[in-house]
Amino acid sequence: MSASTPAPSTTPGPSLDPVNVLKAFASLRRLLGTYPSGHPMIAQKLHELDDLVRLHLRRGPALEIDVIDGDVRLDGVSFGGDRQANAQAVRELSDLGIDSIHIREGVEIEELRATAEFLWQFKDTASGDSLESQLARRGVHHISLARLVRLDTRWRSHQWPDAPTGPLDPAYAESLALAEQTFDTVASGRKLDAMTVRGLVELLIYRVARSNAALGQILAVKQYENLTYCHSVNVSMLSLLIGKQIGLDDGAIASLVEAALLHDIGKTKIPLDVVKKPGALEKRERKMMEAHTTFGAEILVQTEGLRPMTPIVALEHHRSVKGTGYPDLGDAIPHIMSQIVSVADIYEAITGARTYQAPTLPERACLVLARLAGEKLNSAIVKAFVNAITFFPLGSMVRTTRDEIAIVVGINPCDPLHPQLALVNASGDGPGNRIDCSARDLTGAYERHIVETVLPQGNAPDMTQFFGGSPA
Ligand SMILES: [Fe+2]
Repeated sequence: MSASTPAPSTTPGPSLDPVNVLKAFASLRRLLGTYPSGHPMIAQKLHELDDLVRLHLRRGPALEIDVIDGDVRLDGVSFGGDRQANAQAVRELSDLGIDSIHIREGVEIEELRATAEFLWQFKDTASGDSLESQLARRGVHHISLARLVRLDTRWRSHQWPDAPTGPLDPAYAESLALAEQTFDTVASGRKLDAMTVRGLVELLIYRVARSNAALGQILAVKQYENLTYCHSVNVSMLSLLIGKQIGLDDGAIASLVEAALLHDIGKTKIPLDVVKKPGALEKRERKMMEAHTTFGAEILVQTEGLRPMTPIVALEHHRSVKGTGYPDLGDAIPHIMSQIVSVADIYEAITGARTYQAPTLPERACLVLARLAGEKLNSAIVKAFVNAITFFPLGSMVRTTRDEIAIVVGINPCDPLHPQLALVNASGDGPGNRIDCSARDLTGAYERHIVETVLPQGNAPDMTQFFGGSPA
């Protein structure tokens, strides 16, 4: 890791176990409900809780404990620990409908007592009065309690599949299966295997990147909601295209592909209902999501045999070229590899579907990248990317000035706005007759132009029928 890049945060020691805070709160609550207020056991437990809270607040301005499906999270990051041993303390608060306790700097010992008292008397009824104002009336201004609101996803307008459907290029299908296995391994708490990762990187570089059918499936709009492993495979392929475009050598390309493949591995530790939440995230959910960068870096730094850039890219890929973004690393500018992955990551995310939005067409996605160039993204890398994929990437479905619908099956390097096409119907099926969009009539005028990119009706077209795995 470079000198300018701080090491990812480490797991706090046992004395900073957030479960101890929950346990102390729970027993103080019970004592207050059982004994008269001046009882020495209450005073002792209150001081114990106060000491614990202050210990935490020495590390930062706030102590944020969230419980999600029995998993205790400290400042947005899963603390791990023995779930069964923690269950009693966790359940006592969850049963009240309280899943979060956030305590800020400046908290007074009396606020801790008032909160525990409030929890004893608390009835989880929808009084219309917010928890915040109920606590404020008791003089509590540095502690927030919150209920974890289960996501109501019934309003979803469209359920996108989680992975591509229909025939896939065999190498691409193999890489997706291997990536899924790799992500599942980490999600289930087992160690990442560097040898499997190496094999996958080779598969991506030597087979997937050489298949136009696979590239077509990656570059065109993706009518599925790919949140982790598919996204990662796709981002690694897009990063590779950028790397080749800017002339990286084979060693650097391998580093880039590995880093891009694992850049979001930290998301395996974030609850899926937060990752898939439609719409804006609440502040604590956002913090939790942002922790996938440090979480990923921690996982990768602990995995022997990976290339040195891999944890750095996981840490930095949401940071901008101006040194903003997350995690906060001061004004450090991200490494060029992280900057490449940032461009590929954004293109891949917006050309894919989300529960709350249809995929963005490639030409619009290029415009989004152009708008971010210079502010968030490196302008030269955005330019290289758009040059590499062109305005109408392989696999895109387009409409011509002759009202034909066609799939882009080849790029004319001297004339990227007039690519090679295969004619299809609106569903993306054959006959597949080839036309060269750059052809001109006897007067020298183009026979046709592309008017726009269109979204295929129904499932994505079967790319294998147009490319047959031919080399790029
Ligand atoms: Fe990410």
